[in-house]
Amino acid sequence: MCDGGSMKSLFSSVFFIYLACAGLCAHAQDPQAIRTLAASCAACHGPAGNSLGGTATLAALNQAYFIQRMQGFKDGSVSATVMHHHAKGLTTEEIADLAAYFAQQPRQTPPALPKQSFLGRQ
Ligand code: HEC
Repeated sequence: MCDGGSMKSLFSSVFFIYLACAGLCAHAQDPQAIRTLAASCAACHGPAGNSLGGTATLAALNQAYFIQRMQGFKDGSVSATVMHHHAKGLTTEEIADLAAYFAQQPRQTPPALPKQSFLGRQ
């Protein structure tokens, strides 16, 4: 019933689950993973957290303030139009890592948009 073969396959599947979990669980500490996560914020908060207008700039934001706002969006104590959706998908650890990432980004003044010449028929 419990022969060597099935024990071996049971062991290898447990080992596989362990490897898969180790890969997933380690991702929050991985700087590349945090950059990827932070890139999802760029659509609204600008490249490296430098807003192009409309939303808050996250670059060089105080870490404690960042965490306080994100946890507030998560638990609903800070009212939001969209941020509660984003915050709810993040773990406490990811929020802390993002806070550290954005705090390190230099604040840049967005370059003035080039004046567009009108080439069409007037
Ligand atoms: C769809 C656009 C959108 C995306 C994507 C987005 N945000 Fe926001 N963010 C907003 C808006 C809008 C606000 C203002 C609060 C609100 O209305 O939800 C905000 C507010 C914030 C604030 C508070 C700033 C302050 O000074 O109060 C933080 C911190 C923040 N966002 C972090 C993030 C992070 C981190 C990500 C990526 C994981 C992200 N946001 C992705 C639109 C976005």
